[in-house]
Amino acid sequence: MSTMLLLNGPNLGILGRREPEIYGTDTLADIEQAVANEVSGQGCRVLSLQRESEGDPVSAVHEHGPDSVGAVVNPGALMIAGWSRRDALASYEHPWIEVHLSNVWAREQFRHESIIAPLASGVVVGLGVFGYRLAARALLYVTGAVR
Ligand code: DQA
Repeated sequence: MSTMLLLNGPNLGILGRREPEIYGTDTLADIEQAVANEVSGQGCRVLSLQRESEGDPVSAVHEHGPDSVGAVVNPGALMIAGWSRRDALASYEHPWIEVHLSNVWAREQFRHESIIAPLASGVVVGLGVFGYRLAARALLYVTGAVR
């Protein structure tokens, strides 16, 4: 069975009670379940890692990256200036897709640029939890797990 990484950055562990008018009321556990449901029929399991600091996600990519086939990544605010995470993703040898629950381009100016987006296979923004599901499904195609 292949492993898909689900990487969530700072402040995404408190989804459900974090600014629900922006991020909705689904929790990270709900997202994990939705992504797992999306890929389980394709012989793929999901390894979910959520970290608050910048260094921890870097270690997660180093530690679990080699055994995975692809990743769905919501960097949170590390999209703006998480350079070490950006470099960790640059060294990741499998496809990955960047996801944001909210439409970052409809929000404050500082959220309009992602330093990791140029490295991603694709980017999904503004579709809430459904965006994670779309990204996971797209990854199955990108990685060749389904045709
Ligand atoms: C977010 C958008 C980011 O700007 C913000 O810092 C987050 C959540 C989203 O999923 O919409 O933490 O990545």
